[in-house]
Amino acid sequence: MRIFRTKDYEDMSRQAANLLGAQVLLKPDAVLGLATGSSPLGAYRLLRERCEKGELDFSRARAINLDEYCGLGPQHPQSYRYFMQQNLFDHINIPPENTHLPHGLAPDPAAECARYDAVIAGAGGIDMQLLGLGLNGHIGFNEPADTFAGGTHRVALTQSTIQANSRFFGEEEVPRYAYTMGISSIMQARRILVIVSGESKAQILREAFAGPVTPLVPASVLQLHRDVILVGDAPALSLLC
Ligand code: F6R
Repeated sequence: MRIFRTKDYEDMSRQAANLLGAQVLLKPDAVLGLATGSSPLGAYRLLRERCEKGELDFSRARAINLDEYCGLGPQHPQSYRYFMQQNLFDHINIPPENTHLPHGLAPDPAAECARYDAVIAGAGGIDMQLLGLGLNGHIGFNEPADTFAGGTHRVALTQSTIQANSRFFGEEEVPRYAYTMGISSIMQARRILVIVSGESKAQILREAFAGPVTPLVPASVLQLHRDVILVGDAPALSLLC
């Protein structure tokens, strides 16, 4: 694992954008595994700016996201599809048909999971997978569990996640389930880029990268991947190195 220590969130975002941009420069038809959440927002902003300036060309790139809420369509402001359109896809020259997320409104969850695994396989696998880190060690929606999950699957959200999300939704429509790439799909990515910012992540970052490999800390499995780049800011890395 290579660790890039950055000063702060902005610096972390610049490093992440540099690495994602380099991937697209080196392989214009690269398959990028992407994430939502607050961690990648700064990197997405920089990628938009570089694309607008003509420094990056996404016309042949492909994007496959980690996860999506079940029951939310692409127009729902809390859906991850909406997030990706707003923060990245609508502002770069990636063809819409090259962008993939699980379909939140798919009628048959098992068929949707199989479809998504076929999307990943059909793209030839993921060249660079971007990951944020959850406070409990989750990656994607792979929450602490007894075993590591395989491919794309539907997960029941924990009560604490449902409660945390309720501020974004009316009481009735808080999603109870989500689709997520599984741990083995993530581990099959050729390179993994983990970005972590802030003191609140310091403890779990240490558990994930310096503790035992266990499904109770899903991100700890990344210790077994041969090409992980961790870009963390000083507060996040304070207990690791
Ligand atoms: C998002 C995702 C999540 C987040 C994680 C960290 O697509 O899969 O695992 O990466 O919850 O979220 P932030 O970046 O908001 O701290």
